[in-house]
Amino acid sequence: MINRIHEIEKEAEEKIASAENNEELSKLQVLYLAKKSELMSFMAKMRELKPEERASFGELMNSVKGKIQNKIEEKRNALKDHELEKKLKKETIDITLPYENDSRGAKHLFQRVVDEVSDIFIGMGYQIEEGPEVELDHYNFELLNVPKDHPARDMQDSFFIDETHLMRSQTSPVQARVMLSKNGVGPIKIISPGKTFRRDEDATHSHQFGQIEGLVIDEHISMSDLLGTLELFVKKMFGEKRSIRMRPSYFPFTEPSVEVDISCFECGGKGCSLCKHSGWIEILGAGMVHPNVLRMCGFDTNKYQGFAFGVGIERVAMLRYGIDDIRRFYTNDLRFNKQFDKE
Ligand code: DAH
Repeated sequence: MINRIHEIEKEAEEKIASAENNEELSKLQVLYLAKKSELMSFMAKMRELKPEERASFGELMNSVKGKIQNKIEEKRNALKDHELEKKLKKETIDITLPYENDSRGAKHLFQRVVDEVSDIFIGMGYQIEEGPEVELDHYNFELLNVPKDHPARDMQDSFFIDETHLMRSQTSPVQARVMLSKNGVGPIKIISPGKTFRRDEDATHSHQFGQIEGLVIDEHISMSDLLGTLELFVKKMFGEKRSIRMRPSYFPFTEPSVEVDISCFECGGKGCSLCKHSGWIEILGAGMVHPNVLRMCGFDTNKYQGFAFGVGIERVAMLRYGIDDIRRFYTNDLRFNKQFDKE
């Protein structure tokens, strides 16, 4: 009987090892461990044994039963792992296969110009700051030296949301926000690209357009720093041969204020239709930060000065890429958008 038990144990182990699925395992479980199985039928024989033999027989039975049960469990787990592995293998994606449809989108010209301008200024040590598009009158106008009822408000026909909020008409409020965040301690050297909104609509004006604001505040900042900075920017953006000139102008938040022209890159300054036969193209507004603005934004005017500038994103893009109508930026004609995907 003992021999048979060992035989059964061996046979069970072999069969379990070669079982291929759970179903077979369940059958083996019944075959070897069910009450009516041959192995278990030996339990009934206990009674026939001498009392001193019963203990060791019981031990043997228990150990064989336990071993078979363990083997079945082990095999069950192994089968589970194997199944999972098989499933994972079946589901792997071969990422080395070439992608059939290679139609790619293109970076929008607007973003392209923002990135180009940003790169130039980051190269000069500037940081990028952003401000909200729904802005408080306080930042958009008042802190920029345009009190309520000031006639300069008419320069920017604005979309007001309520008494105190408007869609920002310029990126200049970011100047005030950044200055206030510095608690009167310079230096500041930032540009701020973003969307702006005005009640304007024709081939060169849109109710929504982009600006890039620049602000530098430090000790000993002069107009020549502004000139040098803009000259470098213009040469990098429009070509080494470009020069700039400044014309006196008026902005409420700068004093003195200037409008900056670049020498025409179409005719080189001789005069053509692009520059309206003047040899120069107006490109941006700038100036030295008005002392009122510095003071309102917490800076000591005896210690700090600064310059600021604001440039239209679409305007730069239109000049640089010869685009005739500002509305092309917003109608999302893919034939237009894709022309500038030259990276
Ligand atoms: N915010 C002005 C505008 O939208 C542009 C501008 C002019 C910004 C002069 C400046 C500046 O920072 O100094 O018309």
